[in-house]
Amino acid sequence: MKGGKVSERAENVFPFYVMDIMARAQALEEEGRDIVHMEVGEPDFATPPPILQAGKQFLELGDVHYTKAQGLPALREKIAEYYRCEYQVKVSPERIFITPGASGALTVALAALVDEGDEVLTCDPGYPCNNNIVNLFGGKARPLEVKPGDNFQMTGEVISQAWTNKTRGVMFASPSNPTGTMVSPAQLRDIIKAVNEHQGFLISDEIYHGLVYDRRAISALEMSEDVFVLNSFSKFFGMTGWRLGWLIVPEYAVSAANRLMQNLYISAPTTSQYAALSAFDAETLKILYQRRDEFKNRRDVLYTGLKALGFGLFEKPQGAFYIYADCRAFTDDSYVFALELLEHAGVATTPGKDFGTSHPERYLRFAYTTSIACIREGLERIKNFLAAKEG
Ligand SMILES: Cc1ncc(COP(=O)(O)O)c(C=O)c1O
Repeated sequence: MKGGKVSERAENVFPFYVMDIMARAQALEEEGRDIVHMEVGEPDFATPPPILQAGKQFLELGDVHYTKAQGLPALREKIAEYYRCEYQVKVSPERIFITPGASGALTVALAALVDEGDEVLTCDPGYPCNNNIVNLFGGKARPLEVKPGDNFQMTGEVISQAWTNKTRGVMFASPSNPTGTMVSPAQLRDIIKAVNEHQGFLISDEIYHGLVYDRRAISALEMSEDVFVLNSFSKFFGMTGWRLGWLIVPEYAVSAANRLMQNLYISAPTTSQYAALSAFDAETLKILYQRRDEFKNRRDVLYTGLKALGFGLFEKPQGAFYIYADCRAFTDDSYVFALELLEHAGVATTPGKDFGTSHPERYLRFAYTTSIACIREGLERIKNFLAAKEG
């Protein structure tokens, strides 16, 4: 329609700058250039065969209908069992909702919690969709700078200092996107304490649990029943395109989450839910643990390589598949640097400005969602590019 107008809220949803990088990478590939992709935030591995098999079997029946809004009871049972084994916590399946990805979980949780004008504290750098969705629901995301010294994570002190009479809650992810860093048990305890003192809500994004390399990931549910936990089959389980995740809510939010699921989605994708029934089988987990080991090796190669090239790195990131590297030794604008790396070295990365406004010009996110051979090739290309730049 000519003269049409989208809502102000939609206008304020920011695009991903990495899309520019991806579009340019594709154009270069079409011209015949070879590009090393370290910008992609999804595992390069295919869906594990047992999950694929379960999905195919279900499809062959041809009986693909909606499920209950909350999700298949059998899948919720399996997730509850997973929490018993992995975290030694008892979560009633009644509190578990199967959602279209963690993205679906995020919208249900925020729709359940945010009223007009409510302030929600988020991490900067952090996952950019959080701010956009808070604002879309009429809330006001307030990104707080998280510092390398705090492992790029929120602390109880930062939360307490930032809290105003408009603040309603806090969101964080551990391991984090874009930094791959985790909260320590003490940090998590302090975060929960600070939020409870202000009678706020806490949304803990645990989507990268499973992809942790040095120590166990702690679920916020181990310390409190009163938290909202997001998780997904996308990352550790390698099912990004199946669009399946889950949300665990406190007792008081069960009815609201149910009504929101019904209205927003009717249900999560049915085939994906049946496929995911195999996600927790021993056979599947064995494949996933091998992949996790591979990610760990990749992390080590990339971390050592970037350090040797002169990138500023902090503690080795403990999880996810990202390294957030300070590139001030080479540039004062990481976005321009990302474009240069792509153009002249054929290496695609994600610029810091996709993750917030606290010194984004200093950082690039490298994703090790590609093979060790490609990572080595990427490092070699960056080395040559830097040498040519200097010379
Ligand atoms: C921190 C974080 N949360 C949530 C999501 C959403 O993932 P999905 O909807 O695929 O489960 C992502 C995706 O990259 C993410 O990095």
